[in-house]
Amino acid sequence: MPLQSQTPARPQEAQHMRTAYPKNPPAAPTAPSAAGMEASRAGVPRVLEVQHIEKVYGSRNAITRALSDVSFSVAEGEFVGIMGASGSGKSTMLNCISTIDTVTSGHVLINGADVTALKPAKLTRFRREQLGFIFQDSNLLDTLTARENIALPLTISRVAAKETLSRVEEVARRLGILEVLDKYPYQMSGGQQQRVAAARAMVTNPAIIMADEPTGALDSKNARLLLECLETMNRTYRATVLMVTHDAFAASYTHRVIFLRDGRVFTELNRGDSSRQDFFNRIMEVVAIMGGEGSDAL
Ligand SMILES: Nc1ncnc2c1ncn2[C@@H]1O[C@H](COP(=O)(O)OP(=O)(O)O)[C@@H](O)[C@H]1O
Ligand SMILES: [Mg+2]
Repeated sequence: MPLQSQTPARPQEAQHMRTAYPKNPPAAPTAPSAAGMEASRAGVPRVLEVQHIEKVYGSRNAITRALSDVSFSVAEGEFVGIMGASGSGKSTMLNCISTIDTVTSGHVLINGADVTALKPAKLTRFRREQLGFIFQDSNLLDTLTARENIALPLTISRVAAKETLSRVEEVARRLGILEVLDKYPYQMSGGQQQRVAAARAMVTNPAIIMADEPTGALDSKNARLLLECLETMNRTYRATVLMVTHDAFAASYTHRVIFLRDGRVFTELNRGDSSRQDFFNRIMEVVAIMGGEGSDAL
């Protein structure tokens, strides 16, 4: 029987990360992860390696083993889905990979660097330069327009204003949100806000974009539009995307789905050359084997 969802409030730190101005911003802009691109050309194709991670919450009397011996890797340019029932450890895993949370044991390598060994002082910069985040709730700043929200990570990294403006326009054009650029979040629909959040995650060209249930609060039309944005980011910018979802339809947009059950990798499915519909059907078969009753039962 699946565990009940007790998803904790997002750590304060995550909020802090998106709004704080660093004392020592890097001189160089957060360029398209040049080091990562070099590495892949030199024959190191893996952007992410998760090695035997384990996460235990609590202490002696009240232990929750949220992750047990989870290992997998993601190649540059892959679009990977993580599926599992509520409480299966999806968010814990994403938080451990993104250094928002710490692993109990095991290692996480991003472009070959072990992020579990990073000193706290380096974490903020690491996340800002290497990672892009999309959450269920867009987390846009209410007092900024869409354009300013998307520009924010570049502003923080002191990218020149002219370049910032052109990068923001370019990403917005590709994601089909040009017409909302001068609107404030309250003037946009939830779907538009999520697409702006996707653009904000993309604009720095991070090594990995992580999305935790990004379609969770959207109706089906807006969910589809957001998934198409993620697809465009993956195809056009070769962005590596890791998306947590409990929805088989959302997962069917990815290339590969890793299924978690009770904190362990249950199985994985590769889309290969099959159509999205075929992939959806295969995902549903696994959902059935795992004991779900439908896309929302997982
Ligand atoms: N901060 C925490 N303290 C204690 N237990 C937690 C904490 N965060 C998550 N858990 C537990 O870890 C398990 C996995 O949770 P989570 O990763 O949020 O699952 P999912 O995202 O798949 O719904 C659950 O049993 C949950 O109750
Ligand atoms: Mg979750």
